[in-house]
Amino acid sequence: MNENRQLTPPPEGREQLPELLQAWQGESHNLLQILIEVQQRYRSIDRETVAWLAQQLRLSPLQIDGVIDFYSFLHPDDPGQFRLLISDNIIEQLQGSRALAERLASRLGVTVGGAVRADARLSIDYTSCIGMSDQGPALLVNGWTIPALTTARIDQIAELVEEGRELTAWPQELFRVAPGVRRSDLLLATEHPDGAALTALLRDGGAALLQQLEQSGLRGRGGAGFKTALKWKLCRDAAASSPNQRVVVCNADEGEPGTFKDRLLLQEYADRMFDGMTLCAGIIGASTGFVYLRGEYRYLLEPLRQELARRREVGLLGAALHDRLGFAFDIEIHLGAGAYICGEESALLESLEGKRGHPRNRPPFPVTRGYRGYPTVINNVETFVAAAMIAVHGAEWFCRVGSAASSGTKLLSISGDCARPGIYEYPYGVTLQQLLEECGAVDPQAVQVAGAAGRMVPARDFGRRIAFEDLATGGSLMIFNQQRDLLAVVRNFADFFAHESCGFCTPCRVGTTLIQRGIAKLQADQGSAEDLEHLRQLAGVMRRTSHCGLGTTATVALLDLLEQFAHVTHQVAQRPFGPAFDLDSALQEARESGEAHATEQQGG
Ligand SMILES: Cc1cc2nc3c(=O)[nH]c(=O)nc-3n(C[C@H](O)[C@H](O)[C@H](O)COP(=O)(O)O)c2cc1C
Ligand code: SF4
Repeated sequence: MNENRQLTPPPEGREQLPELLQAWQGESHNLLQILIEVQQRYRSIDRETVAWLAQQLRLSPLQIDGVIDFYSFLHPDDPGQFRLLISDNIIEQLQGSRALAERLASRLGVTVGGAVRADARLSIDYTSCIGMSDQGPALLVNGWTIPALTTARIDQIAELVEEGRELTAWPQELFRVAPGVRRSDLLLATEHPDGAALTALLRDGGAALLQQLEQSGLRGRGGAGFKTALKWKLCRDAAASSPNQRVVVCNADEGEPGTFKDRLLLQEYADRMFDGMTLCAGIIGASTGFVYLRGEYRYLLEPLRQELARRREVGLLGAALHDRLGFAFDIEIHLGAGAYICGEESALLESLEGKRGHPRNRPPFPVTRGYRGYPTVINNVETFVAAAMIAVHGAEWFCRVGSAASSGTKLLSISGDCARPGIYEYPYGVTLQQLLEECGAVDPQAVQVAGAAGRMVPARDFGRRIAFEDLATGGSLMIFNQQRDLLAVVRNFADFFAHESCGFCTPCRVGTTLIQRGIAKLQADQGSAEDLEHLRQLAGVMRRTSHCGLGTTATVALLDLLEQFAHVTHQVAQRPFGPAFDLDSALQEARESGEAHATEQQGG
């Protein structure tokens, strides 16, 4: 905290603000975390609070408003004692989430997406996928996850809300998230003693372990597949202002619809993830680490902090680590606040610095200029877990399975029309067909690989493999059977992207909305060949000119639908031109209301 700062008293009724500010060192780069905590404490971030924070942090109120406005979980107004957010993932929609949301709303006398109830008890809205589609439908209540929703659970929640009972007094059973593991392989089935990667570091040294990592061929598990050893080496070799001024960031944002495999690692294998991060710090020369945990996984925050505290106590982190291994490194957890774009690494860095999550221009890349200008390694949760285990068991162990360009295994989040949704660890190279058989898919029509931003694969291609050289994925596989309306599926994705576009560049900001409207027109059976062509062209422009990966991949599934599932839009393609609205029925409505009016007049 800047000692010269003038501490003006906080607004009335908000006496704990100075304490909250102090907990984050009163630093403006911790603004997002401060705002999240202010809201948790006071339910909203009102004008007086913004003005007070602006003064304390030497920011303009407009800057703070800009941050509040950017993150969908932050709000200036009171959303009521209970803010209920229903996950609007397509899988959960198909499982009846919307009917459950309507039931909850009608029991509580509000509308979904509508105003706060007059007695300020509650509000209900939809939110993007909350990482529970293997045990959905699911919702968040004041940020806490309730999975496995049924009508009985919805009625129980309605009663608890109506009673106004504090969340801490709700039955804990409601909040139980199952690990959801269906198949274990290299990573999940192998023992990893506490701090084993650091023992290996002490024994073999950083250079030797980096070589092992290189030989293992480990590539990033977050989607893009960049070689991990190369990333670490680039960061180690980047000029830093002092030897240990590098930063390690774990990307635990897991926002891709249909992905939930990092949830398992964070919930059950956090020691390995922290081990991998600390190993990375030892190799590259970093003293600071962050886990960027998606706000939707708020329920994991305390257990993760407890694990960090335990590691400090046993000498695996913090000052005690220095005595043992000769370098000091510690890890802080930052929460996200409901913005999918913050999974993109440069947007994540902006968010870590307390700002709106707009993706940066690159170069410079994070390895040379990352968090607050320091060279930074950003890796996915699973990548850190794999790196820790390679340090212990060696490159050969890891390369025993997988394919030529994709060594090791991949954790896959499988959901949708199958008997056994959940997390499957498979060697790279597994075919979709094998996966579909294992998870009990019946009559699958399509598999959406890699989330809303990924490929929609038809049944004739189920021989294709999960691998960087074929179907690359961060881990999401959503299965749709023959009865499913694939146009409704891509509409859900289009809604998602229109909502999640950060608005920074025009092709994506405008394009995602136009795509959404175009698909709506097809759904209303008013589309034509001209509309299909327009959608294709628009998708091409977005792919070529968007600033970041969100805009460039937002139409992949739509294009696959048009190319690979031509029967879905076959009839539309036969129509040369279709108006955006139905003139006949509009005229019919006008005629009917005119007739009704005339009858009224005559009657009067
Ligand atoms: C829109 C968008 C969202 C992303 N979301 C995530 C995410 O939630 N988790 C993740 O690990 N990587 C995500 N990525 C990829 C990251 O930018 C980055 O490549 C990754 O964190 C690097 O780690 P890795 O090399 O271990 O995969 C996203 C990328 C884009 C374009
Ligand atoms: S492509 Fe979309 S998400 Fe990415 S910077 Fe542009 S507007 Fe933002």
